[in-house]
Amino acid sequence: MDLLSLVFCVLLEALAVYCQQGAEDRIVGGYAPVPHSIKYIVSVQTTNRQHFCGGFLISQFWVITAAHCNIGVEKMLVVAGDYSLSVYEGTEQEVLPQFLLPHPQYNYQKNNYDIMLIKLKSPVYLNSYVSVVLLPRQDSAIPVGTMCRVSGWGYTSPTGGPLPSTLRTVMLPITSSAACNSTSSFNGRITENMICAGYNLGGMDACQGDSGGPLVCDGRVYGVVSWGIGCAEAQFPGVYTAVSKVRSWIDSTIYSYYSKCKTL
Ligand SMILES: *[C@@H]1O[C@H](CO)[C@@H](O)[C@H](O)[C@H]1NC(C)=O
Repeated sequence: MDLLSLVFCVLLEALAVYCQQGAEDRIVGGYAPVPHSIKYIVSVQTTNRQHFCGGFLISQFWVITAAHCNIGVEKMLVVAGDYSLSVYEGTEQEVLPQFLLPHPQYNYQKNNYDIMLIKLKSPVYLNSYVSVVLLPRQDSAIPVGTMCRVSGWGYTSPTGGPLPSTLRTVMLPITSSAACNSTSSFNGRITENMICAGYNLGGMDACQGDSGGPLVCDGRVYGVVSWGIGCAEAQFPGVYTAVSKVRSWIDSTIYSYYSKCKTL
């Protein structure tokens, strides 16, 4: 191993350890989508361009990610229009965040309200590589069994291994909260602000590095990749922040930002 690869591996290890503190999340059992067909996803990176979380655009100025991806506004960079993280494709748009607004009730021990708004310093340009995604209405329910898409640049194997450089995606069914919260699964740790998705037998899941990424059902982001036990394990689906439970918070937070600006 040459020095450069060694340094790279050490960095990856450090990041992996950092991410483990928050959640267990990367795409396992999925596939590489057609390049740039998933246009709303962003890679959340450190300022020295190490991917550590996913996110998604809800407008030219606003990104949503998980609250546990909060490493501080000064240390973060948002990249839209990306597909391969290791290849410069000419479609990437790198934007710095202006400020971070984690949900005020975020609880990192219980992973409750694991969602954060990122206001960008400058707008991303919407084009054939970059677009926004719709959100569900407040309290709208998504039926059990609905197939949803989760995407990200996280680990492709539950045991870690090399990070994929290209985006991966997988379709997963919404599972019942009762089953997910049962003693044979998460045993009471599922709150009403979480939804679960995955197969009983496991095999397909989000994993480390997918955190903050979108779970899209019927064209709307119902979930934000949040936490789990391992990745793709039987009996343990992935746990997502239920966006429909915080839609009013998202709207009022963005609205109050703009109304404050007007009076200044
Ligand atoms: C999961 O179980 C716990 C403990 O019984 C309970 O407090 C919580 O409300 C349950 N969550 C849901 C979504 O029903």
